[in-house]
Amino acid sequence: MQRVDARVFSGTGNSLRAARWFAGDDGDVRMLEDPAAATLRADALLLIASPTHGFTAPWEVVRFVSALPRGGGRRAAVLCTRAGIPLGRWHPPGLAGTAPFLIALALAVRGYRVRGARSVNMPSNWMSLHPGLSPRAVKAVLEHSEPQVQRFSAVVRAGGRRWLTLNLAWELIGGLALAPVSLLYLLIASRLLGLYFFSTKACSSCGQCALACPVGAITMQGQPARPEWSTACTSCMRCMAFCPQRAIEASWSWGLVTTLLSLVPFAAVPWLGAASPLAWVGASVASLVLSVVGLPPLTRAWWAWLGAPRVNRFFALTTPTRWYRRFREPSARLRVLAPRMRKRG
Ligand SMILES: Cc1cc2nc3c(=O)[nH]c(=O)nc-3n(C[C@H](O)[C@H](O)[C@H](O)COP(=O)(O)O)c2cc1C
Repeated sequence: MQRVDARVFSGTGNSLRAARWFAGDDGDVRMLEDPAAATLRADALLLIASPTHGFTAPWEVVRFVSALPRGGGRRAAVLCTRAGIPLGRWHPPGLAGTAPFLIALALAVRGYRVRGARSVNMPSNWMSLHPGLSPRAVKAVLEHSEPQVQRFSAVVRAGGRRWLTLNLAWELIGGLALAPVSLLYLLIASRLLGLYFFSTKACSSCGQCALACPVGAITMQGQPARPEWSTACTSCMRCMAFCPQRAIEASWSWGLVTTLLSLVPFAAVPWLGAASPLAWVGASVASLVLSVVGLPPLTRAWWAWLGAPRVNRFFALTTPTRWYRRFREPSARLRVLAPRMRKRG
């Protein structure tokens, strides 16, 4: 069996756990943000493991792969984790969509021979949308998925290929059907989702979220220092999952306000002629520009306003994330997920 060099992007630990299943005991598994992650052994199979965001791969992963040393025909494989939410004994598949194909393509462009790709359900971690799964459901998803990853690993590490599978057929069909959603996600939503996070008065200013952020999107601002998220945030959920005070929430009401604001250009459509396609296209473009250019500065002002205790309390009380169970992969340790924290000792 070929040894594995796994390079992993993981917000809450799912993709790290799946990469470990794949790599076995003798594998070298590193996070992308580890400075040594780009160093690869010549004889090892390279595994790229990643979560799915918006039915595709997060930018960071594609960027990392595109910056890897040239593969020179070295073997590689792709493992994408996706949302698993069990319904009784049934495990409906999440949708990784174009994620495995996009990463495989980026690897092929760098000169790697990609032997196969697979997506696998892991407990859904999108806690700004829904509560984390119960420990029982988490266990059920992990038990369901581990053998799938091990079978995939056994085939690829023994020199086989894994392309003509039902798993990839599902992802291809779903990914193509939802490609416009993924494109909008990559271009717009992935830049904006982080702007809905905020800290409540429970924040102790410890700065762990800023240190642990895999893309350096969080800075501590103000007096007392509170986290602020930049548009570099990938909404990986690590800050929300690991905050020791449980002080990070995602504001649904702020999300609603900004969504309504970004729709303002459509108010002009009746005057421009509701039957004219040009009016709709113009309003859509203006709305997109307004979202990307107008919302980030507005959000900074919002955070400053949130410093006022009553305002903060109002928004903390009016977001359902306040009641959501936090999820992190049960074996995940922050010091492993965030090599920067290890260095700090
Ligand atoms: C912002 C965001 C977007 C997501 N989009 C998808 C998706 O499109 N399809 C899917 O199946 N799962 C989706 N998920 C679920 C995660 O991909 C899944 O829980 C993954 O295992 C998380 O892995 P990690 O802990 O390594 O980050 C999304 C999660 C987040 C936070």
